[in-house]
Amino acid sequence: MRRPYALGSAAFVLLALIIALAFYTPSTLGQTSGPFQYIALADARTQGAAAALPPSFDNQILANAQQLVDEGRQTFRFDTFGDEDFWGGQLRLHEALATVTPKAALGLGLKVDADALPATLVTQLKAGQVNLDDPAVTASLLKLNAVVGVTGVFNAQGGLQSVGIQCALCHSTVDDSLAPGIGHRLDGWPARDLDVGKIIALAPTLKPFSDLLGVDEATVRQVLNSWGPGRFDAELILDGKATRPDGKTAAVLMPAAYGLTGQNLHTWTGDWGTVSYWNAFVANLEMHGKGTFFDPRLDDPAKFPIAAKAGLGHKRDPEDRITPKLSSLHFYQLAIPTPRGPAGAFDAAAAARGQAIFNRTGSCANCHVPPLFTEPGWNQHTAAEIGIDSFQADRAPNNRYRTSPLRALWDTQKNHKGGFYHDGRFATLMDVVNHYNDFLKLGLTDAEKNDLIEYLKSL
Ligand code: HEC
Ligand code: HEC
Repeated sequence: MRRPYALGSAAFVLLALIIALAFYTPSTLGQTSGPFQYIALADARTQGAAAALPPSFDNQILANAQQLVDEGRQTFRFDTFGDEDFWGGQLRLHEALATVTPKAALGLGLKVDADALPATLVTQLKAGQVNLDDPAVTASLLKLNAVVGVTGVFNAQGGLQSVGIQCALCHSTVDDSLAPGIGHRLDGWPARDLDVGKIIALAPTLKPFSDLLGVDEATVRQVLNSWGPGRFDAELILDGKATRPDGKTAAVLMPAAYGLTGQNLHTWTGDWGTVSYWNAFVANLEMHGKGTFFDPRLDDPAKFPIAAKAGLGHKRDPEDRITPKLSSLHFYQLAIPTPRGPAGAFDAAAAARGQAIFNRTGSCANCHVPPLFTEPGWNQHTAAEIGIDSFQADRAPNNRYRTSPLRALWDTQKNHKGGFYHDGRFATLMDVVNHYNDFLKLGLTDAEKNDLIEYLKSL
């Protein structure tokens, strides 16, 4: 039975080959070459003529990549997945935002997208003619969709009726090109000066959190106010733990959402899953978008008492606005590169010496495998292997820490503001290196430590 079929398909392949060869001319060759094709594709898109491209599968791949990036960026920046029903509808956060001055909003780490501002407003801002003490200006900025990661919903009379949040709230910042906190968007850069806990704590009611966590609203407010800038506690709604054993906040630093390609596990503790897992998790459970989420690991009442009781691992809203967005959202994040430092961000000669220490003497490359700087494969370690406590690791399914992919370490103004490791326990790279030097008994001299740091800053 198999032979005639095999023969038939061989004949077909031969025929296809003959046809293909008949059309194999230098000009069709030219059309499939890399950079040339990108230009052709870009031109076709700007002319709205994507359909006119030769329908080769290569071209379909390129068009698909471009479409996924476009859609994913839109979702990352602007999609609330209907979460305004929670932030506005249930917490009435918009009522609080209506009283916040632009100055106070910037002080809470909210950012303004300069590209969303009309030219007149830009001119006025530059001339210092905008009253940053007037809450009505905050509402105008929301109306212009210029507040990064926050979307206002306005009624017919122009009043702020509700508010929703986006990924960009915690995973974007701006380049401050117009003024501190006002500039072009930098997607994927962690919002390390955003005090999201304080912003949520402004809401007139926190009853949904109080009901979920089984504590009064005053306690919820106190916990939110204790997080501090650049931090968020995604596990609070799973295990109800607000503090570490040493009494400090259990909230972790906002991680970067760039340079994520090639790595297996994501988040500080890793084994929640890949980027796409975490996107679904966060859009459904943290942002309270409308969607579907499944993870029976959250049914464990010992580890995740809050999540197990509330059935968070089995969310199925009547409407699903999240699942259709997951592919493009995933693709867009993977496309965001690690930001490179400006010229002079590190000393090249010292970095070259430091690289040898990283790869050999320091044994750093055993875990931070270049060029991913995390392990290809199962990129996780126990707390004991890196010489720290296991509190945060134990809040995740597999009780491990993920080998942090080392990225943008040259920058402590934005990307690494708030320190290093998941909870910022090491304030400087020297503190990190000293930790490893003691823990791994490396015996590095001061000069070697400095070289190693210059190398880290080059990544
Ligand atoms: C309120 C702040 C907040 C919002 C909104 C938010 N995140 Fe996050 N995100 C975090 C924090 C904090 C972590 C680290 C969680 C952990 O390790 O426990 C994280 C982790 C991640 C990671 C893992 C990064 C890594 O280090 O590997 C990705 C990817 C991610 N978020 C994407 C998204 C996407 C996509 C959205 C929107 C659907 C989103 N986040 C919305 C705060 C936020
Ligand atoms: C046993 C594996 C292992 C070795 C060896 C190791 N690291 Fe790490 N590294 C990790 C893990 C896991 C983390 C994440 C810790 C956390 O988030 O709490 C980390 C985090 C870091 C960070 C913080 C990154 C960030 O985004 O905050 C730096 C910097 C770093 N390591 C540098 C080094 C250097 C330099 C060496 C060599 C002296 C080294 N590591 C050796 C596993 C390792």
